[in-house]
Amino acid sequence: MTRQIDLTGKHALIAGGTSGIGEAAAAAFVAAGADVLVTGRDATRLAESTTRSGASGLVCDATSSADITTLASQVEHLDFLVLSLSGASGGGPFETLDLTALREAFEGKLWPQLTLLQSLLPKLSDDASVVFISAASARAALPGTTGLAALNGALEAAIRPLATELAPRRVNAVSPGVIDTPWWSAAPTDLREQTYTQIATTIPAARVGTPHDVASAILLLATNPYITGTTLPIDGGLTLPRGG
Ligand SMILES: NC(=O)c1ccc[n+]([C@@H]2O[C@H](COP(=O)([O-])OP(=O)(O)OC[C@H]3O[C@@H](n4cnc5c(N)ncnc54)[C@H](OP(=O)(O)O)[C@@H]3O)[C@@H](O)[C@H]2O)c1
Repeated sequence: MTRQIDLTGKHALIAGGTSGIGEAAAAAFVAAGADVLVTGRDATRLAESTTRSGASGLVCDATSSADITTLASQVEHLDFLVLSLSGASGGGPFETLDLTALREAFEGKLWPQLTLLQSLLPKLSDDASVVFISAASARAALPGTTGLAALNGALEAAIRPLATELAPRRVNAVSPGVIDTPWWSAAPTDLREQTYTQIATTIPAARVGTPHDVASAILLLATNPYITGTTLPIDGGLTLPRGG
């Protein structure tokens, strides 16, 4: 088979690769010929997802230092690291925002991803590429997203210094808008439907995004040797400034 991007012989780890964007990224790396390991907390979800994506799987809760130590001991060498953990929500109007929940959101997304990267640094090849998943909330100024903006803004702020510090390894992020993944199943049905309709009727792309939309951008950032320190919006134009 002739592949547009041939990653035969390369090794990829997708942390949070058993659902949504992470699973789509795993499938994209598998399709390109890479040897792919995905992690997630739930063993059943892991088994079902690896059957779909063709990746190998390892149960690993990224908030557990013991699990991360086990993961690092089982990984020999990495060319690609994708960090796609979802964590807890942290959304809602600021006046009533549950700051404990927001703290948990940081504990569920920011800290485990930085811990994973630090623990796996010795395994990264000199030309390895790391891709984080931020969120459009970091820049969109949408009411009700102050907590998510703080969380994802903190993550985005780390991308550029990481890219200089870890060079020649490359560090980038994608910043998705509203993407139809199981993440939204945690939201009340009416809120999800209202959000999807609002997105489809107001953004330039006129639709909600798919995990594949984001996965193809992750593959681009991971494989283009001249992109580093970048956060790439994959949001259908959600964060474009509007006149009027
Ligand atoms: N969907 C969107 O609209 C959207 C928009 C902007 C940004 N994002 C970001 O994109 C990333 C992926 O989101 P998604 O929509 O693909 O979510 P998802 O479908 O819920 O997938 C999240 C993945 O992370 C894993 N995970 C969560 N916590 C974990 C932990 N502590 N340790 C290991 N694995 C863990 C989940 O598996 P287990 O539950 O089995 O552990 C699952 O594989 C997240 O960072 C999210 O904030 C999503």
